[in-house]
Amino acid sequence: MGIVIEKATETRYDSIDWKNLGFGRYFADHMFISFYKDGKWDEGKIVPYGPICFEPAMMTLHYGQTIFEGLKAYYDVNGGVNLFRPDMNAKRMNNSAERLCIPKFDEKKFVEAIIELVKLDNKFVPKVKGESLYIRPVCFGSSSFLGVHPSSEYTFIIMTSPVASYYPEGLNPVKILIEDQFVRAVRGGLGNAKTAANYAASLYAGHKAKEKGFSQVLWLDGIQHEFVDEVGAMNIMFVIDDILITPPLSQGSILPGVTRDSVLILAREMGIKVQERSIKIQEVLEAYERGTLQEVFGTGTAATISPVGKLYYKDKEMIINNNQIGPIAQKMYDTLTGLQHGLIKDTHNWIIHIDI
Ligand SMILES: Cc1ncc(COP(=O)(O)O)c(C=O)c1O
Repeated sequence: MGIVIEKATETRYDSIDWKNLGFGRYFADHMFISFYKDGKWDEGKIVPYGPICFEPAMMTLHYGQTIFEGLKAYYDVNGGVNLFRPDMNAKRMNNSAERLCIPKFDEKKFVEAIIELVKLDNKFVPKVKGESLYIRPVCFGSSSFLGVHPSSEYTFIIMTSPVASYYPEGLNPVKILIEDQFVRAVRGGLGNAKTAANYAASLYAGHKAKEKGFSQVLWLDGIQHEFVDEVGAMNIMFVIDDILITPPLSQGSILPGVTRDSVLILAREMGIKVQERSIKIQEVLEAYERGTLQEVFGTGTAATISPVGKLYYKDKEMIINNNQIGPIAQKMYDTLTGLQHGLIKDTHNWIIHIDI
C-alpha cells in the first residue's frame, strides 16, 4: 500500500524567487510526517508543508534529542529526477538514532517516502546546473516532559527545499580558518552522529570566523588540537605527494559523509593512491613548506566538492594550488555531478531514478 497523500490546495511555487534561490530559504508544497507513540511508528503520511504545533515542554527544545539528514534530488538531463545513494542516508540516520536513543525508522520506508515526496513536488526540482531539490529528514523527541531522559514520543518529518549552491563561491575555492581554540566534537562524543548538538557547538567559532571573512572553520581533534577532523558541513581531503589523504572514521569524531565515501571509491577506481589515516595539522604545514601540498578540498552533499584555496593556521597563510581548483577535485566534481545528472553511466547502483 502506498503512502497516504493529503494534497496542498495552494502552491508555494510562485512565491519562490527562482533566480535567487540561495540555500534553505524556500520549501516545496508537501512534507512527509510520521509519529512514534506507544512503542511504534505510525504509517506516516504526506501533508501540505506548514507549521506544526508543540507544547513549550517539548523535550527536544530542552535536551536536544534530535537527528537529521541531508540529501538531494537532481534533474536528469534525459528526463526525470535522480536521488544519489539515499540508502546511505537512511542507514546513517539510524546510526544517529541509536546514539541519541531515538527509535529507528524503517530504511525502506525512508527511501519510499522521499521518492513519493519528490514525485509529488517534482516541479520544485530546479533544471539549472548547480541547483537541486535539497531533502531534509529530521527526527526528534516530541513528548512534553521536563527531565533528562529519552522521550517516549517522536516525530519524523521529511521536507524539501529548492536550492542553489551552498557556498556563494560555488566551485570557486573557499577560504578556511583552522580552529585552534574551540572544539566541535571529541572521541566518544557525538561527532559521528548527525545531531543538532554538533552544529550548536560549531556556531560560535563559525560566526567569529565569518566575521573575519572565512567561509568555514576546519576543526581539529577535541583533545590535543593536533589532528585534522573535518569542516563545519564537509569532510576534508588533502592531496600530498599525489596521495589523497583523509581522516579516518575510526575515531568517531567526524561524520561518515556519503560524498566522502563516494570520492574514496571513485579515487581508488581511478588509480589514485588513497590513505584514510590520522593527519596532524603539522604534517599539512610541513607539506606546504616543502611544496608538496597539491590540493585541499571539502566533500559534502551541500557543495559536492568545495576546493579550499586559502587555509589559515594561527598567523600562517597557506595558498593552495595558486587559489585554483586542483585536478583531482575537478575530476571528482565532474564525475559526481555527471552521475547525479545522468550524464555518466551509473555503474555502482548509486542512482535511484524517478520517472516523472
Ligand atoms: C559535519 C559534516 N561533515 C560532513 C558532511 C558531509 O556529509 P555528506 O557527504 O553525507 O553530505 C556533512 C554534511 O552533511 C556535515 O554536516
